[in-house]
Amino acid sequence: MDLFIEDEHYFGVDLGNSGIRLVELKLIHDKPTLVTYGDIELPFGLMSSDSPADQQRVAEVLKKLTADARVSTKNVVAGSPASKVFASIIQMPQMSDQEIAHSIRFQADKYIPMPLEQVKLDFFRLTTDKDAEEIDILLVATPTTVANKYLNIFQLAGLELMALDINAIAQARSMVAATDIDVIVVEFASLTTDIALVSKGVTGLIRSINVGAKSMVRVTAQNLGLDEVQAEQFVRKFGLTQTKLEGQVYRAMKPLLDNVVDELKKSVDYFYQNGAKEGKVEKIIITGGAASIPEMPVFLANATGLPVEMGNPWQRLSYAKEFNDRLSGMALSYSTAVGLALRNMV
Ligand SMILES: Nc1ncnc2c1ncn2[C@@H]1O[C@H](COP(=O)(O)OP(=O)(O)O)[C@@H](O)[C@H]1O
Ligand SMILES: [Mg+2]
Repeated sequence: MDLFIEDEHYFGVDLGNSGIRLVELKLIHDKPTLVTYGDIELPFGLMSSDSPADQQRVAEVLKKLTADARVSTKNVVAGSPASKVFASIIQMPQMSDQEIAHSIRFQADKYIPMPLEQVKLDFFRLTTDKDAEEIDILLVATPTTVANKYLNIFQLAGLELMALDINAIAQARSMVAATDIDVIVVEFASLTTDIALVSKGVTGLIRSINVGAKSMVRVTAQNLGLDEVQAEQFVRKFGLTQTKLEGQVYRAMKPLLDNVVDELKKSVDYFYQNGAKEGKVEKIIITGGAASIPEMPVFLANATGLPVEMGNPWQRLSYAKEFNDRLSGMALSYSTAVGLALRNMV
């Protein structure tokens, strides 16, 4: 869905399972500049529910947040999470965007495991070389039910959904520079861990794994015989540190993270085998609330042999210096909202 009118002012809204975050930016001297931001918790389970009453409740929370943050427009860009979309890389002869939009309709049924009447198709060029004869395209299908749910929530909140982006693509926009190197972005959220492979600034592969902060807390509770509140404190305090509590929390969570690492390696292999892409992954950028689990970067670095960095979505923005401390403490939660707000700006 893209009803964009160029130059229309809008703000980015990340509807997460644990909370909502918003960011409004303005281009000042061609530099995206922070106007306002804000976040609010969502009762758990609300966002994953499809009941109209729960959508109404999400809308109420969103309404309060936009009022508190004093956003200056009703126009919103939101994003679908990787777990809700189908994305595949396909090859096509070089053609115009219009021709691609037309011809993906005829190819999509081979890749999308849903009737095409029930999805909205979108595409992103992965091959940016205009002279290439064959090009790679990321084909993305968003189920109409998902798009309608978002439309409904924003409408109930008195806002206008201008475009429904893809969260993983938004994150690449906020955290990955358009340099030549290939990077993997891993988002550790409450219910999922999402992996995106970003090649030359373009997101080329998106995967969602059913491992998140909630499941890490659950296995810790089970293995150590704790309730979930205590287990969450242990996860936050000890995380993947092997020397604390005789490594009990580490050992409880390790199988889940081994899963993530396996998927990550498979995704990388798949990406470079599929199509004529060259290059290699040079680093991992991590984001999402649960990326701050102690020793997460070390764990991933050891398991993959790649350098691991904490994502910083504020890096391409201008903002007043006094925000510095506050913003850096929230970097991991805001990568999606910043990326959505940056749409059509970078
Ligand atoms: N320091 C921390 N250690 C472990 N888990 C954390 C930490 N900080 C936040 N989390 C967890 O991260 C999750 C929120 O991450 P976020 O990316 O905002 O999720 P979502 O997009 O699903 O709302 C919550 O489940 C929260 O408990
Ligand atoms: Mg999220």
